[in-house]
Amino acid sequence: MLELIAASANDFEELLALRIRAMQPSLERLGRFDPQRARERLRASYDPAVTRHIMCGGRRIGFVALKPCEGGILLDHLYLDPAFHGQGFGSQVLQQIFKETDQQGAILHVGALRASRANRFYRKHGFIYSHETEWDICYRRPPAILRNETMQTGILQTLPAHASYLTFNAKANTDAPALRSALTALAKLVDGEKIVLGIGANLASKLGAQVNGLRNFDGIADSRVRLPATPADLWCWLRADERGALVHHAQQIQTALQEAFELQHQLDAFKYDTGRDLTGYEDGTENPQDEAAFAAAIVQAQGPGLDGSSMVAVQQWRHQFEKFDAMSSTDQDNAIGRRKSDNEELEDAPESAHVKRTAQEDFTPEAFSLRRSMPWTEQGKAGLHFVSFGNSFYAFEAQLRRMSGAEDGIVDALFKFSHPVSGSYFWCPPMKDGQIDLCLLHID
Ligand code: HEM
Repeated sequence: MLELIAASANDFEELLALRIRAMQPSLERLGRFDPQRARERLRASYDPAVTRHIMCGGRRIGFVALKPCEGGILLDHLYLDPAFHGQGFGSQVLQQIFKETDQQGAILHVGALRASRANRFYRKHGFIYSHETEWDICYRRPPAILRNETMQTGILQTLPAHASYLTFNAKANTDAPALRSALTALAKLVDGEKIVLGIGANLASKLGAQVNGLRNFDGIADSRVRLPATPADLWCWLRADERGALVHHAQQIQTALQEAFELQHQLDAFKYDTGRDLTGYEDGTENPQDEAAFAAAIVQAQGPGLDGSSMVAVQQWRHQFEKFDAMSSTDQDNAIGRRKSDNEELEDAPESAHVKRTAQEDFTPEAFSLRRSMPWTEQGKAGLHFVSFGNSFYAFEAQLRRMSGAEDGIVDALFKFSHPVSGSYFWCPPMKDGQIDLCLLHID
């Protein structure tokens, strides 16, 4: 069990020695290790009033300093003695700090030396990139209150047992006031949890609205496979524990929208076993978790009306089970890059394996997104309704480009037995005071 205990002015020399031990390898990598400069820098910033020893079993294993700064709190120092690296102590200290900053409703800021492993550590714990200085990369983490109250919570929640996806288009010749009035009626139904709402780029432009980052899906240049683009004005993801609720919600939505929008498509989906695709493979294993899921999926630091929102990419994939079933189990595992029997990743999977094509850390910058896909079935056809939430469309597009063979000519082996029959982008607005916030569409 870790404890944080107040430091005193007399601790300076010991803390300096600890800091040097912790930072020396990163500074040497940058060719900037200089003990005299290390002393001067800590001397300039050392303030015992905001510094605490990290104690474990009565022994000091590091120290931490949190300072008030413009726009929140600065994590000025967090150092662990190298003997205690890699044992989860850093995460434990961060969890304690998060509790404190969440209670204060404060944004936590931190900077990490460019070559330092700390960058990965902070990103993994949900810090989001803010800006760069000559030597440091700076990150920020909004408090829980900002994160939870401003987003449609269904995005981060686990998959429901049942779902329906409804897409709508504006009726021909409907003017902006009529569209706004239908959306105002819809907004009363959208709680962000049982009904998650997305807005298409064409609708935003019909309303004269500017939503930064929102655009239509337009395929992938140089793709070796067909990637249909099927824009729509509205997307509703209905989520429920049983199907009856979906029927009622779908009817209410259609009634609210009937004057101005018509239903383009409705698709029912469901959770299969523990969250498998219908091929039997676990889906979602490498999804970012908790803070990291929030950072990957939710727009932040872009301003009111956008913060708390999410960009969702939606693709209905149809499986050709006769092709999949004709593959040997080794070929099936190689197509995914994981073993179906125990979900282990295959070390020697071919370059075409799906998880090799999409490995989120293998992109520059890294391409993390939050996948919330569900199996669907309709009139004897079936597949995966792929849904990927991001703080932009970057991650989805980077992954799809690699899958499509546009980069190196190698097409994702998924295409041997499945193909997309739709493709669209939507903007999922934030929540404000328990209601969907459509202020960017000029709807109060
Ligand atoms: C038929 C459609 C698809 C199926 C059946 C499918 C299935 C899977 C499975 C079984 C995994 C491994 C477990 C996991 O980490 O979730 C996976 C991983 C992944 N898939 Fe898909 N997927 C499909 C389409 C897509 C598409 C269209 C994209 C993005 C454009 C995508 C992006 C990813 C990513 C990012 C990972 C995790 C890679 C990693 O970081 O290891 N998938 N998918």
